[in-house]
Amino acid sequence: MRIAMIGTGYVGLVSGACFSDFGHDVVCVDKDESKIDALKRGIMPIYEPGLDRLVASNVRGGRLSFTTDLKAGVDGAEAIFIAVGTPSRRGDGHADLSYVFGAAREIAEALTGPAAIVTKSTVPVGTGDEVERILAEVRPDARAWVVSNPEFLREGAAIEDFKRPDRIVVGTENEEAAEIMREVYRPLYLNKAPLLFTSRRTAELTKYAANAFLATKITFINEIADLCEVVGADVQQVSRGIGLDNRIGSKFLHAGPGYGGSCFPKDTLALLKTAEDAETPLRIVESVVAVNDARKRAMGRKVIQALGGDARGAVVALLGLTFKPNTDDMRDAPSLSIVQALQDGGARVRGFDPEGIEQARPLMADVDFFDNPYAAAEGADAVVLVTEWDVLRALDLGRIARTMKQPILVDLRNIYPPQDLEAAGLKGYSIGRPLRA
Ligand code: UDX
Repeated sequence: MRIAMIGTGYVGLVSGACFSDFGHDVVCVDKDESKIDALKRGIMPIYEPGLDRLVASNVRGGRLSFTTDLKAGVDGAEAIFIAVGTPSRRGDGHADLSYVFGAAREIAEALTGPAAIVTKSTVPVGTGDEVERILAEVRPDARAWVVSNPEFLREGAAIEDFKRPDRIVVGTENEEAAEIMREVYRPLYLNKAPLLFTSRRTAELTKYAANAFLATKITFINEIADLCEVVGADVQQVSRGIGLDNRIGSKFLHAGPGYGGSCFPKDTLALLKTAEDAETPLRIVESVVAVNDARKRAMGRKVIQALGGDARGAVVALLGLTFKPNTDDMRDAPSLSIVQALQDGGARVRGFDPEGIEQARPLMADVDFFDNPYAAAEGADAVVLVTEWDVLRALDLGRIARTMKQPILVDLRNIYPPQDLEAAGLKGYSIGRPLRA
């Protein structure tokens, strides 16, 4: 089957590479010439484990190619995926759909044979209807169907998530389109991943509901963590205790500095806008957004408290800057709010990250960057573990303690048991455990 993937951002590139790996003939299209040139030379625009190898082997196999020419990409394609960006619109939090509609118009103009036009970008309920309207306006003659097929992959585990999904949601009520989608996903479908056919609007809403629910789960345990600290309980044990209940489930119950990334912050806001427009407020999601925003800033204050309430002149080293491990993505990373709070409090901030320094640099003014965690910690008054990168899970804590000015370590991901920190000579602070051992 011939597939066109419009947009080679995170979702488009990973999906395109995985579809070609299923044996489909995939053309990835992007307007950005430098990105397409780089991809042709095997250079990935993002850091995602395993992606470069997957792309290289499918390019070699002749199943995957890259172009800026949308018309050529769409020519003969039976499934045309729209995977362009839907950033938050400045000012009002609505998803900006101009790229989606622009792509829809160009696809409509370029259509050759019967095809499913599939939105993979996360788009508000009703976007498919608008794409369908554009299609009818530009090409009233075309035999094409607009389908919603939201993507649930996680950064850092995207290929694995794509190839072994919990479910695939396909929003279409048209049988010809459904047949194309069954063919697209045949390898997974044969692997017994449930293919859930719904109406288009239901599929669009399912994506937002899933992300809002996960964001709620994280925020819930984060608030419980705050309570644990005050009443003298241990949030990790609470998590385990509730997570073993199958109705709750153990995942996404890890307390930390608040969720960030390209999806949860943006999608929760967009969902609230949809709810507002529909005059059906989602009060729980409203609280989640507010609590999470406040939490990211509160983490900076937590560090200042660990410094005795005054950060003026203190040197603080943040280890792990990206919003989570195994990505170079800095979008809405908690580290950004923490740096701000620390600098507002008069601290000098240092940063280390295994992959994200290049992305962090333009977002963090007056931060000194280091290429290894020990150099960042040397002479510092406090070290803060912000992201649970593997390299930060196996630190030589004794070495850190010996070279610091004051041996204060704030572990915002509960990587180390408090007794390990104490044994290394560090004054340890963590999340959701009695304030300090
Ligand atoms: C998320 C969804 O998981 C994915 O299905 C969707 O398609 C896109 O958004 P992603 O943003 O890549 O994926 O990261 P994820 O692993 O879900 O983590 C999101 C944020 O939540 C991170 O900041 C992470 O640190 C935080 N988190 C996650 C926690 O603080 N605790 C947890 O238990 C889990």
